[in-house]
Amino acid sequence: MQNDCACNCGCNKTDDPRFAELKTFIDSVKEVKGNTMAVLQEAQHIFGYLPLEVQRYISEETGVSMAELYGIATFYSQFAITPRGKHHVGICLGTACYVKGAQKVLDKVLQELDVNVGGTTPDSLFTVDATRCLGCCGLAPVMMIDDDVYANLDDTDVIPGILEKYRG
Ligand code: FES
Repeated sequence: MQNDCACNCGCNKTDDPRFAELKTFIDSVKEVKGNTMAVLQEAQHIFGYLPLEVQRYISEETGVSMAELYGIATFYSQFAITPRGKHHVGICLGTACYVKGAQKVLDKVLQELDVNVGGTTPDSLFTVDATRCLGCCGLAPVMMIDDDVYANLDDTDVIPGILEKYRG
C-alpha cells in the first residue's frame, strides 16, 4: 500500500478523512488574522486531542511554527496532546477547596483510578486533572465529572461510588 504521508513521519494521514475535514476548516479561516486558536480548537474537536502529526499538519498548512503550536497546546488546559478518557474528572485545587481538603479528594481519585494527575486510565474511561477554581467555592471541596458537580466531598469514602456510576 502506498504511503501518502506528506510529513515523512510514516503516518497515512492523507488516508484519514479527519485531515480533509481539518483542511476544509483551515481553508475557511485562512484569511482570518489570529486564527491559530480556532484551528487548534477545531483540530481538538475532530481528533479528540492534538497528537504531534496533527500539530505538524497544522504547521504545514498555516505556516505557524511547531514550537508555537506546541506552546499553545500545552499552555491552555482546553487542549490535550495525549488521548483523553471518555469522562473528564476535574478536582478543584483552588484556595477554598484546598483549605477544605481538596488534596485528599485528589489523592483518593488518583488511588481509585491508579493514574497520575493528567493521566488517563488504561481502559480510556477517565482522565484526571487538577483544576483552578470552578466558581462554586461555597460547595468546597468540589469535583466535576464531565458536566456533573460533586460538592462537599469532605468524606472521601463516597468517591468510589461516584466513579462507579460512570463505569456502566
Ligand atoms: S476554590 Fe474550588 S470552587 Fe472555588
